[in-house]
Amino acid sequence: MKSLNHKLSGLTTISLIAAVLLLLTCRNEMPAVPEEPELPIGTTPIPASPQRTGDPQAGYDYLVAGNYIRSGIPYSVFVNTFGKDTKNELGRSGDNAEINYEFTAVDAPNGVRVVAPNCLQCHAQYLNGQLVVGLGNSTYDFTTDQSQNAALLETVIKAFYGSTSPQWEAAKNFTRAVKATGPYLITKVRGVNPADKLAAVLAAHRDVSDLSWYDESQMSLPAEVVPSDVPAWWLLKKKNAMFYNAAGRKDFARFMMASNLLTVSDSTEARDVDNHFNDVLAYILTLQPPAYPGALDQAQVEKGRVIFKENCESCHGTYGAEAAYPNLLVSLDRVGTDPQLAQANFAYPEFVDWYNRSWFSKNPNAARLEPGEGYIAPPLDGIWATAPYLHNGSVPTLEDLLNSTARPKYWKRSFDTSDYDQTKAGWNYSVETSGGSTSVYDTTLPGYGNQGHTFGDFLNDTDRAALIEYLKSL
Ligand code: HEC
Ligand code: HEC
Repeated sequence: MKSLNHKLSGLTTISLIAAVLLLLTCRNEMPAVPEEPELPIGTTPIPASPQRTGDPQAGYDYLVAGNYIRSGIPYSVFVNTFGKDTKNELGRSGDNAEINYEFTAVDAPNGVRVVAPNCLQCHAQYLNGQLVVGLGNSTYDFTTDQSQNAALLETVIKAFYGSTSPQWEAAKNFTRAVKATGPYLITKVRGVNPADKLAAVLAAHRDVSDLSWYDESQMSLPAEVVPSDVPAWWLLKKKNAMFYNAAGRKDFARFMMASNLLTVSDSTEARDVDNHFNDVLAYILTLQPPAYPGALDQAQVEKGRVIFKENCESCHGTYGAEAAYPNLLVSLDRVGTDPQLAQANFAYPEFVDWYNRSWFSKNPNAARLEPGEGYIAPPLDGIWATAPYLHNGSVPTLEDLLNSTARPKYWKRSFDTSDYDQTKAGWNYSVETSGGSTSVYDTTLPGYGNQGHTFGDFLNDTDRAALIEYLKSL
């Protein structure tokens, strides 16, 4: 036994020496490799995935007039209830020119003309009097249970047309989905969005392979909503993953067409819709951020540029002629912002598991959810326009974002999208003494916290003002 041990350790010594020699020789033969720039602490690079290409014009047309949601409110009921809206901001034709931009009129499979919500409910917003397509809607009010409206709608359709009518049939997929999801989508305050939860609740009612509908939920999902602030679409062209926690990997268009889950009949329909979303992606990739509308102090911008380079660029990238974006996932420990959204997908492992086994995960054009325990450091193009800040919209202005001690615990804004503070860069707001009202943002609620991202705290007021001026120029 002793001698065997001895022999072994002798062998180990010999192989160690051999390995070291080998390494040394290799090093001599290897060409000099340029040093990789060091990653900031607590960050992981997100790898890119190949994407489908498409036709941006066809994508825009499909986005604003396409039939990705094929069930809805009969056109006549819609117009009788909400009246006509002839602003036609989207330049649409036919009956779509006469309804609000958040809705699209389409033919249901049985030929009845219906009105369905479109992506712009959440992905467009007025700003200084102009509708900006691609700007996340931070004014929507999700604080009430929509299932009650769906029940009301059913009553109206039954009264008008009867419950065996083609109109009833054309509205059925829509009303059943709104009734099933409504109780799970209630946010505590106005302005934040429950869309992540919407996807999970819809999946809970869908067959994993052919997407057909189950009346009973197949997952046990919590009723609480983890809120998010809708990200701007013009940032997607720089990102290697979709969503705040960078969970959206592989085919982006496949993720986007998931809105179709609201009313889809089966996977044959899903496949047809999916075949248009490469074009929708192509359109989204053409979007540019709106330019800051006020005058900028160029000397301040230049001063701010230097501060940004030293303190922010390693995570958020560079801008201008030689723009570069590092695509980093920043750990919760490092960024310190409210952890709930990043953890939400872990809280619903059933949903992640469903998705990664489902029709959505199948080739061609498979998508995959890979939740990261952190947040992506987003590109900051057009950041002035996207207040409030952080993934949950808990911070009203850039000045507050860059000084965590000044952030209001309870705050209220007018939701008038011209009510903008040019100095602090964000919404005008009043500081309140308590929450409890849906019009007051309450950062003490779980998921609504405004802590973390203290990277601007050390700056003095003069330098912070210069940095804000620079950020406005992006
Ligand atoms: C009910 C509101 C809602 C609707 C409707 C909606 N979205 Fe979203 N969308 C969101 C929210 C909220 C997020 C951010 C979720 C997250 O990151 O956790 C998001 C994220 C995205 C992203 C990823 C952006 C990024 O940078 O990570 C894209 C792209 C997108 N949506 C496209 C679409 C398209 C296309 C449609 C219509 C087919 C659509 N969305 C419909 C709310 C919505
Ligand atoms: C260690 C990486 C890191 C550094 C350094 C960093 N940030 Fe961030 N930043 C992030 C992450 C991650 C987020 C997203 C956090 C969240 O939403 O919870 C973020 C969010 C932001 C946002 C809000 C984006 C939005 O759309 O809501 C702004 C603005 C911002 N950072 C500016 C800065 C500035 C200016 C600096 C330098 C003073 C800086 N950051 C330094 C990682 C970083």
